[in-house]
Amino acid sequence: MLGLLHSLSLFGLNAETVEIEVDSHRGLPRFAIVGLGDAAIQESKERIRSAIKNSGYEFPNGAITVNLAPADLKKHGPRFDLPIALGILHRSGQIHLPEKVQENIFLGELSFTGELRAVNGVLPTTAEAAGKDYKSIYVPTANADEAALIQNIEVYGVKDLKSICNHLEGSTLIEKNEHNVLQRLNQNTITDHDMCHIKGNEHAKRAMEIAAAGGHNLLFSGPPGSGKTMLAQAISTILPKLSIEEALEITKVHSVAGLTNDKCSVISERPFRTVHHTASSIAIVGGGNPPKPGEISLAHRGILFLDEFPEFPIKTLEVLRQPLEDGRVTISRASGSCDYPAQMMLVAAMNPTPSGYDTDDPRCTSTPFEIQRYQNKISGPLLDRIDLHIHVPRVDFEKLKSLEVSEASHAVQNRVQTARDIQTDRFTSDLVRTNSEMSSAQVKQHCVLPDDAMQLLKTAVEQYDLSGRAYFRILKVAQTIADLAGADEIQLPHVAESIGYRHQSNVNS
Ligand SMILES: Nc1ncnc2c1ncn2[C@@H]1O[C@H](COP(=O)(O)OP(=O)(O)O)[C@@H](O)[C@H]1O
Ligand SMILES: [Mg+2]
Repeated sequence: MLGLLHSLSLFGLNAETVEIEVDSHRGLPRFAIVGLGDAAIQESKERIRSAIKNSGYEFPNGAITVNLAPADLKKHGPRFDLPIALGILHRSGQIHLPEKVQENIFLGELSFTGELRAVNGVLPTTAEAAGKDYKSIYVPTANADEAALIQNIEVYGVKDLKSICNHLEGSTLIEKNEHNVLQRLNQNTITDHDMCHIKGNEHAKRAMEIAAAGGHNLLFSGPPGSGKTMLAQAISTILPKLSIEEALEITKVHSVAGLTNDKCSVISERPFRTVHHTASSIAIVGGGNPPKPGEISLAHRGILFLDEFPEFPIKTLEVLRQPLEDGRVTISRASGSCDYPAQMMLVAAMNPTPSGYDTDDPRCTSTPFEIQRYQNKISGPLLDRIDLHIHVPRVDFEKLKSLEVSEASHAVQNRVQTARDIQTDRFTSDLVRTNSEMSSAQVKQHCVLPDDAMQLLKTAVEQYDLSGRAYFRILKVAQTIADLAGADEIQLPHVAESIGYRHQSNVNS
């Protein structure tokens, strides 16, 4: 009887069913795997041969051909080791697979000893397996907690080849994994980055609160040592609590990137990704074959922090434009295209001039030409996508030396949470969670302005020659300010404050 088992091949966050057929016949010893497998799959022959022998079975003599169907789908990685080995053992009559074996999904990389090693992308694979109505999934023990986050499928954590053979034959059963129900996420602990350590800079703190509440992009500009990096790091301490759906979304992306393991099977905090300016465009947006998520996707539902913003090569910054608008990124390759979510808050920090000092500071030695060239490194379209431009001046001595403790992060976070809860009630669809994600149609529907506020906005748009995008973004920020104030509708002061953030910095948008 031909061995036939099912597995799933992952491309981005989508999984396709792969049927594993094993045939053998007499002849010279030969072991071939067909079906567009990559180098890792070709190398699996050696792992499987040793794993079978070291698990107390015989590697069959003669010619063995393994077919990974469908034949036109490219398959990647070592995840098919386990089902191929099971198929060979079944085909050679050393084990008898149950009749309904095709109701299960098998995944796992084999080591020479027959033990199973963790593979990447188990969470999205299990979610897809459940969606395709498979009854159970067998994964390496190290991945079992992660797979058990998906509720409507049975999950088995498999230690080694021998134990799964015993289980499938019914001699010694493997215990089903308890489903992992997420209950408590984002425990608040006081960290070094707590807002209580930041003296002065009240204006920047207010902007951080607005950005965190509505998911708006933020740019700090100020001289060296004024606390820009410190402020940016503190934002992660005031972000609203993560919902279970959001935690699963984030964990899926981290799972594909191989950043989850048996010690950390779920990402339970909002990501804060700091990217160095030497990072490549691919590292930032994602890429490779198969396409892996980049920093913008790893920062999904959290913060992407770009310190020393103008030091990034222009090309690297420009690739951010489309994902900042859409909240997702599409990576196209010859083998297909895949989508990763990228709904993150961009936080950037820069000095106002190449010398570091403000233009009106006597210590500023940069010429107007140098300043212009420096500021031009960040294009207008990119600045247009940043809602809050904040100037961070140096804090004076009196404030720095004062023993007064500033407001702690948990107090700010409570206000941010209340504003976020209002947004959750406003948007019934799962696709939009914050004011910053509203489409133009939603802005029209939700952000209704009284006459005086509309008049002010009209003046600002005309006077500063603001773009259509800036108009909508001002309204979105005004909505967040209204939510923080607990107002039912946007009022004049909310719009005025929102407009102010567009023109605070000495960077012109
Ligand atoms: N407002 C402030 N309150 C408390 N400490 C500050 C403040 N501003 C700067 N500092 C101190 O200066 C250090 C350097 O600040 P940093 O955020 O790295 O500055 P920048 O990124 O603007 O160059 C911080 O680690 C902190 O110790
Ligand atoms: Mg800094």
